[in-house]
Amino acid sequence: MTHILILTGAGISAESGLGTFRDVDGLWTKYDLDEVATPEGFARNPTLVHEFYNARRANCFDATPNAAHTALGRLQSEHAGRVTIITQNVDDLHERGGATDIIHMHGELRSALCANCDHRWPAPREMSAEAPCPSCAEPNTRPDIVWFGEMPYRMEDIYAALSEADLFVAIGTSGNVYPAAGFVMEARAMGIPTLELNLEPSDTASAFNEARFGPATQIVPGWVEDVLKS
Ligand code: OAD
Repeated sequence: MTHILILTGAGISAESGLGTFRDVDGLWTKYDLDEVATPEGFARNPTLVHEFYNARRANCFDATPNAAHTALGRLQSEHAGRVTIITQNVDDLHERGGATDIIHMHGELRSALCANCDHRWPAPREMSAEAPCPSCAEPNTRPDIVWFGEMPYRMEDIYAALSEADLFVAIGTSGNVYPAAGFVMEARAMGIPTLELNLEPSDTASAFNEARFGPATQIVPGWVEDVLKS
């Protein structure tokens, strides 16, 4: 029974209407990453950062999972072996598409984090830095998002899962942001076969053993079908 480890990125949610980061009309072409996705940017202007993530949260809450999300949910419930899903995405479309136990290595829009005491609670649709923490009452609320310069979540769990995987699959990620971009090389070093599913070859495409290119809503359900038949 095989253990399939899947890494997803913004491309899997693109057809649900959520913007990617580095495509021609991506979020990082419209917003300054240093201002909205770093601890320094948050210290300079928390209101701007909250506005950015409030808009992302509204888009996410209004979006619905697409056929790629639901195919991965189906794979998790029907595959005889284990399926681990690690996502760089901060949306909850994997969960709403029927998948469980998602590792959100870059955090989650649906979670609020107290910058004072690290308490977490469900984020309201609109957040502000002045909202008091339900635990320590300090008005120092931030989105529960891993910013550039911060350590991604659950790295020990991720490397443990990677070391036990029989297949590594990356879906809809450009291979720009480490450590996630390095997982394919780690998998290769451990002798694990690797597969890329993406609209077009990513920056790390040459590291993969195999690839299928096209929109996620077409290629992911097709691949899941093939896995479940094999
Ligand atoms: P990117 O925007 O860097 O890459 C999106 C990838 O999805 C590209 O390779 C596209 O070709 C592909 N893509 C676009 N539309 C697609 C579709 N319909 N079907 C399949 N693939 C499609 O997004 P990520 O790789 O997820 O981090 O970015 C990684 C991290 O960079 C994000 O988690 C975020 C960002 O800065 C933080 O904010 C910390």
